[in-house]
Amino acid sequence: MSQKVSSRISGFYKRCLEERLRTIEALGLLDEEAIAHLARGGGLPTAVADRMCENVIATHALPLGVALNFRVNQRDVLVPMAVEEPSVIAAASNAARMVRLSGGFTGEADPPIMTAQVQLDDVPDVEEAAARLAASRASLLAAGDAAIPRMVARGGGCRDLEVRVLSAELGVLVVHLYVEVGDAMGANLVDTVAEAVAPLVQRIAGGTLGLRILSNLTVRRLVRVTASVSDDALGGAEVAVGIARASRFAELDPYRAATHNKGFMNGLDAAAVALGQDFRAIEAGAHAYAAMSGRYRPISAWERVPGGLAGRAELPLAVGTVGGSTEVHAGVRAALQLVGAKSARELAVVLASVGLASNLAALRALASEGIQRGHMRLHERKRALSAAASDEAAAPSSGEGKRFAPERGELPRAVQQAEGGT
Ligand code: MEV
Repeated sequence: MSQKVSSRISGFYKRCLEERLRTIEALGLLDEEAIAHLARGGGLPTAVADRMCENVIATHALPLGVALNFRVNQRDVLVPMAVEEPSVIAAASNAARMVRLSGGFTGEADPPIMTAQVQLDDVPDVEEAAARLAASRASLLAAGDAAIPRMVARGGGCRDLEVRVLSAELGVLVVHLYVEVGDAMGANLVDTVAEAVAPLVQRIAGGTLGLRILSNLTVRRLVRVTASVSDDALGGAEVAVGIARASRFAELDPYRAATHNKGFMNGLDAAAVALGQDFRAIEAGAHAYAAMSGRYRPISAWERVPGGLAGRAELPLAVGTVGGSTEVHAGVRAALQLVGAKSARELAVVLASVGLASNLAALRALASEGIQRGHMRLHERKRALSAAASDEAAAPSSGEGKRFAPERGELPRAVQQAEGGT
């Protein structure tokens, strides 16, 4: 994204869909193909879908929106989000606006190191086998590299080896190979490495070969983000104190931590889906990491600092800007152009920032009016919108193309009536 691009676009939600698209187009981030794809309403040709997975009978769409106001590591970012849940995009945009007033999100991601696992059972003397494997580190890494020559040529490859004894009694051990995967998510590369080194691992350690597969708990591929927000931006010190208390509640209670983390993942997943990422892998990694201390804990925390709150989050995040659906899905390509991340690491920082923004928005709502009022309002709007849509279908008006802005935009007359408006 050029330096001139601002993610702060006043009144975006009030514009009709076509105007929003023209506004995005004018930023100069999208190529012609991406613009044409979005102008067609997005989607996925069934012929492409048929090549992506099996037994295809149709495609299945989600709304694609753009979260605004994000500033991440001093760069303004427009965040594409694909999500069916009302208010996720507006809430993230709103929280990003508050954080922006204090300078935006700051973060860093580890180098893209994935974990390959090779399982062995019935190893006669696990400790001795573990020592032999550790001594064979160089040849095991070389065997892994030999399986992924193109990644090695691009500067990636096997970086480290770890042997973990899972049960001395049962002779179960697992070998981890840590593989740098460049800007790919890396699942295929790591699975290739796991399968390639497995025979050598078994020759060295003995025992019965088990699974050869990546771990989604990518502890060497963490992302960390921080953000500050002032009492004024939040609507007062009382709200800020409420958010800090909510954060402590999640810290103390796994039942609350699960919901706290769901609020975090609301934003992250929506952006991950738009950007063609493996959100199942992201979810699995995030929740496993949240439980790594032996107790399920929140991914993010907010604490009181003078005049406001300081927020932070840390989680494993395996994402890619190349490979997977980035190669075939025009909507994913458009989303990647929009977000403008130059590397998988940069993308990870953006996604974690979106998570932290969603989390802040949820806690702020919960610590002030609660979320039910807003939810009921949206529910009523949706009901009224359906009624309005049927009316419009029956008698199209000159206002065609005007879209409903769920959070704050103009509402169809039937909706206004449902809300007691004129
Ligand atoms: C709803 O999708 C998400 C929340 O439940 C998150 C939270 O409770 O923090 C509002």
